[in-house]
Amino acid sequence: MPKTTIRAGSNIAFIKYWGVEDAAINLPQTSSISMTLADAYTTTTVEWQSSSAQAGDQDDDIVIDGRTLRGEAGARVVRHLDRIRALAGTNQRARVASRNNFPMASGIASSASGFAALTVAACQALGLDMNATQLSALARLGSGSACRSLFGGFVLWDRGYDHETSVARMLFLPEHWDLYDLVAIVSHGEKKVSSEGGHRLAATSPLNQARVEHVKTLLPIVQEAIAQCDLEQLGEAIEWDALAMHAVMQTGSPSLLYWQPGTLEVIQAVRRWRDEEGLAAYFTIDAGPNVHVLCAAEDAPTVQAHLAALPSVVDVLVSRPGPAPYAVTDPLF
Ligand code: DP6
Repeated sequence: MPKTTIRAGSNIAFIKYWGVEDAAINLPQTSSISMTLADAYTTTTVEWQSSSAQAGDQDDDIVIDGRTLRGEAGARVVRHLDRIRALAGTNQRARVASRNNFPMASGIASSASGFAALTVAACQALGLDMNATQLSALARLGSGSACRSLFGGFVLWDRGYDHETSVARMLFLPEHWDLYDLVAIVSHGEKKVSSEGGHRLAATSPLNQARVEHVKTLLPIVQEAIAQCDLEQLGEAIEWDALAMHAVMQTGSPSLLYWQPGTLEVIQAVRRWRDEEGLAAYFTIDAGPNVHVLCAAEDAPTVQAHLAALPSVVDVLVSRPGPAPYAVTDPLF
């Protein structure tokens, strides 16, 4: 059977996906908007075994960053392969190898790029004829944010109302705006609660509904800010939503507190540089302690140097807007 190797970029959300309406299909409570990343990606090779074994006879072989994936993380990938097997009407087992060019638990979503690359590679290797919208819906079942990584540049995930309609689409090409995402790493530790578990807790926070309502106002503002390449307008909105999402996390039951002291150090510093130096940089934070700082290309070297000089910052990862998933010629096995 032919092998297929696909590379997909991770993405950083400007308006977050947090909270599910229907956990069974990762139907979100709100639409969300992200930028696909060029420099933080997952490369995945998939080969389907030719012998059609009985289901359960033989396991899928899944290796990520050189290690065989077991436990719940492995089961999550197998469940996704099962969806693809069901679509193709096959029970072939898969060999999967995947590599991230960024450290897992770096504050960059490996599940977004991982499930996007896996979905495209696995479907292509089986010869399934699916367009990007259908692949986006399928990727969403593996990891919600993965549906946005099916597209390049600036992306909207329309909340929709069912499996077919809750899909992402591209708003603008990556070349539209040379916006930089600098990730200030303040901790390399694994997070204790996965986003998957966290989405179910959002509804337990009394602040959740207020955020959901306000996001409806912010979505067109963020779209317009991207259309105009207006960093100030974008920045104010993304900082609000990052803080609102973390307020929802922190006030749910049980409470999720992803921040470390370094998180607050970076937030305070970014605002200080804006106020005191006029440096146009704005932060956002996913479900972890590390801080993404967005700025224009010409300010990126200054922001990077400033971030690297902060006592709690151990590393700074730099990325620009990136393309939709694409085929690469070097398979991983
Ligand atoms: C905070 O359910 O896509 O990054 O559990 O890693 O698959 P995984 O994440 P997912 O939730 C992402 C949540 C977020 C915000 C966002 O990317 O929109």
